[in-house]
Amino acid sequence: MYAYDMSEEDIRAFNPNGIILSGGPESVHEEGSPRAPEVVFNLGVPVLGICYGLQTMSAQLGGKVEPGTVHEFGYAEVNIQVRDKLIGDLEDTKDQLKVWMSHGDKVTAIPEGFQITASTPSCPVAMVSDETRRFYGIQFHPEVTHTAKGAELLSNFVHSICGCRSLWNSENIIDLRVEQLRQQIGDQKVLLGLSGGVDSSVVAALLHRAIGDQLTCVFVDNGLLRLNEGEQVMDMFAKNMGIRVIRADAEERFLTALAGEVDPEKKRKIIGREFIEVFAEEARKLDGVNFLAQGTIYPDVIESAATKNGKAHVIKSHHNVGGLPDDLAFELVEPIRDLFKDEVRRLGTTLGLPFEMLYRHPFPGPGLGVRILGEVKKEYADILRLADDIFMQELRASGWYDKTAQAFAVFQPVKSVGVVGDGRRYAWVIALRAVETVDFMTARFAHLPYDLVDKISTRIMNEIKDVSRVVYDVSSKPPATIEWE
Ligand code: XMP
Repeated sequence: MYAYDMSEEDIRAFNPNGIILSGGPESVHEEGSPRAPEVVFNLGVPVLGICYGLQTMSAQLGGKVEPGTVHEFGYAEVNIQVRDKLIGDLEDTKDQLKVWMSHGDKVTAIPEGFQITASTPSCPVAMVSDETRRFYGIQFHPEVTHTAKGAELLSNFVHSICGCRSLWNSENIIDLRVEQLRQQIGDQKVLLGLSGGVDSSVVAALLHRAIGDQLTCVFVDNGLLRLNEGEQVMDMFAKNMGIRVIRADAEERFLTALAGEVDPEKKRKIIGREFIEVFAEEARKLDGVNFLAQGTIYPDVIESAATKNGKAHVIKSHHNVGGLPDDLAFELVEPIRDLFKDEVRRLGTTLGLPFEMLYRHPFPGPGLGVRILGEVKKEYADILRLADDIFMQELRASGWYDKTAQAFAVFQPVKSVGVVGDGRRYAWVIALRAVETVDFMTARFAHLPYDLVDKISTRIMNEIKDVSRVVYDVSSKPPATIEWE
């Protein structure tokens, strides 16, 4: 994957068999929004524009894109009108594709030479193609699981249209990486900050396969983790896989540092700073470590790379322990730096990590620190962990966990009156948040069935005596964010 401002010379040197112009949250009407380099359309290779990629391709080749008044988001049924090479024989019987839409602007006039191959009533230009030039466009998102035949569409483009073969699979990647890691590291020692998230876990498993005992992991338990998470990480990595993991029990330290602080950004900074300090302290105790491994993945690399227009995003706040003190100079090892999340997950599966761990919802670096509104206290964190665990159990049992992109409970530091038996209860409020999203830039609240919400709220109030009320967050992003802080 390359940035849109890659030079013509570099594109020609790369000599692609085909080009996919990917999506993004921008609008072609915004000044300075990305355009595909013109050479892309002159190389004579197939081009597939997805979402924003379709819009910029249409605008650049003489079509028209109009700003949308409403953001179309969610399921749609696309009617196939022309079976071009991209659609092929997908969904043979019904001429319909179940897809996931997420767009504001839409193409209202297609460029010369193009034909509309599929549409919906609200999105007349859902798919287009110019088969002579082998240019294709898709307005919906073929890459998300909600789009039923998305993988087949992409496969048609890559295999049938571009003529590429699939040589990039988990086994090959693992063999290659293990070999590279052995060469880079030799008989030296490596340190890894293990968070329990997908990326660092896969790096741990990969390094363990490559260099065995030369790897030491540090897992910082900051007291802001989900229920039993610390034990699960230790069980999986230390007990089952035999990886050396040092668990730094730093709950008290984090809570002391956070005491009295109510500002969300200051809380984030404190958590980030403490994390680096604890990690550095543990690192100093180890002898002769020369390498620091990190779970940097490709989107982190792209997002933190500044492009020509000076746009740079800073991400992966504290888990990337790049801000270590000067007395700890390590050479970096980043074995999954050129992989996307789904590739990392597949690697993890091949390496034997459990499915539930690899396909978990994202969990923010500052953890429950940003899900306890205002001041963070152990009492609050303990209540929140229980409530969140009940929420997750019920989502999983009902099959809704995999239908939502992210779900969690939020602790509200306000008390509300309730009644239990004959008595009055004056206790805390828990909010439930569940969202559907493709890119996490925009999201809508998940439309969980009422009886499920009912079951969750009843369990939380019955099983946690310190909670007297449960509310469901019905805010979309924008204007709200996914997290509450
Ligand atoms: P928001 O709340 O900005 O969240 O809509 C978008 C996504 O980012 C995650 N998030 C964070 N992740 N450190 C992280 O590592 C953070 O400080 C942080 N804040 C938000 C959030 O969980 C969601 O997936």
